[in-house]
Amino acid sequence: MSNDLKNDVLKNIYSRRSVRDYLPDDVPDDVIRELILAGTYAPSAANKQPWRFVVIKNRELIKKLSGKAKELWMEQAAKSSQPELKSLASMVSRQNFDIFFNAPLLIMIFSDSDAFSPQIDCPLAGENMMLAARSLGIGSCWIGLAAPLGQDPAIMADLSVPDRCKLEGCLIFGYPVKLDQKAPKRDEDVVLKWIK
Ligand SMILES: Cc1cc2nc3c(=O)[nH]c(=O)nc-3n(C[C@H](O)[C@H](O)[C@H](O)COP(=O)(O)O)c2cc1C
Repeated sequence: MSNDLKNDVLKNIYSRRSVRDYLPDDVPDDVIRELILAGTYAPSAANKQPWRFVVIKNRELIKKLSGKAKELWMEQAAKSSQPELKSLASMVSRQNFDIFFNAPLLIMIFSDSDAFSPQIDCPLAGENMMLAARSLGIGSCWIGLAAPLGQDPAIMADLSVPDRCKLEGCLIFGYPVKLDQKAPKRDEDVVLKWIK
């Protein structure tokens, strides 16, 4: 695409990166509210708007959730013969490895039960939030490694998440140590067919 087509929205999209190194500064509550509002402006099937958010700024709790997710991965790997799962578990089992990269803010996205397509709607909200964060100088990263937390009833009860809600994704946010990280290379050969 030629450079004169790159408006601010496109520049924001191209410069969003998954950030894994955060300054200790808190993300202010009014900024968090804006991120959530941006999330709620995502499209959703039949306009169900099924997203529900749990905002966690308590660093001890974020650490505890990281530890719990690691334990759950290791338990799953111990029961499995899949080599990929075993190597993932050995990666996460490192004592100092925090799946949330010591980020000062974790937002868990849940879907409410009457959604048509929660697995699509909620990540759309998540991407809106990550792009909104980028536009405000805040880094973010989707943490798929946190997924097993949603299958642990005790954790869900601790977080006061109603039984009808399902964990769809976990996002970390914070001020990045390094601005303007280089993007991992994008594949260019992605169009299967261009029919005119
Ligand atoms: C569904 C999903 C799960 C992801 N899980 C993790 C994760 O657990 N840990 C992590 O460091 N990055 C995770 N990422 C971030 C990807 O590694 C990242 O988006 C990819 O390498 C491209 O880099 P970019 O986001 O900077 O463009 C995840 C991304 C997605 C979409």
